[in-house]
Amino acid sequence: MLKNIHPIQIGTYEIDLDKELIYAVMQDYLVEPILVLQGGLSSYQVARESDFFLFDARLNSLLEQIYSKLNEYTNSIGLAPCRVNGSWFNKMEEGGKVNVHHHHGSIISGALYVDTPNESSPLVFSNPSRLNRMMEVYPSNFFDFHHEPVAEGKLILFPSWLEHQTFAQRGKRTVISFNTEHTNATNTF
Ligand SMILES: [Fe+2]
Repeated sequence: MLKNIHPIQIGTYEIDLDKELIYAVMQDYLVEPILVLQGGLSSYQVARESDFFLFDARLNSLLEQIYSKLNEYTNSIGLAPCRVNGSWFNKMEEGGKVNVHHHHGSIISGALYVDTPNESSPLVFSNPSRLNRMMEVYPSNFFDFHHEPVAEGKLILFPSWLEHQTFAQRGKRTVISFNTEHTNATNTF
């Protein structure tokens, strides 16, 4: 008998997007290149909370939907509740890539796909156990990379420490991302 131990749980959910509103709000935010993106622009910044994209009052109903899925996810995996404490959006050009990274200083991170071309590049999660293996040889890299398909309106929630990346885009793509902290941090230790 085989047992999967220490599984890593990611969540995938559907969000109703008001794309017209989202794009209208995006126009009010500055975007610039950031190190982790190749061929893309981001509104990511270390700034006042009020500058975080999802905290824009015009996006309250979107944030509510995200909270409903975030709560569902943390409940399902037995994690204390989390709240969004930072958010931004990325606009990727055709051929653009997101280098492998994780979200330092966050608990659960999310990626909400606003626009994805057909056959868009998946979100690729690395297997953290590969760093501990020394001599094993597998006939393929199946165990080391999980390719999660993306689609418009799809929200992917994952542990922030889990490394991820996106290979070259097959078209333009817009993604809203966010980080979280525990809602009541004093209860988590
Ligand atoms: Fe990321």
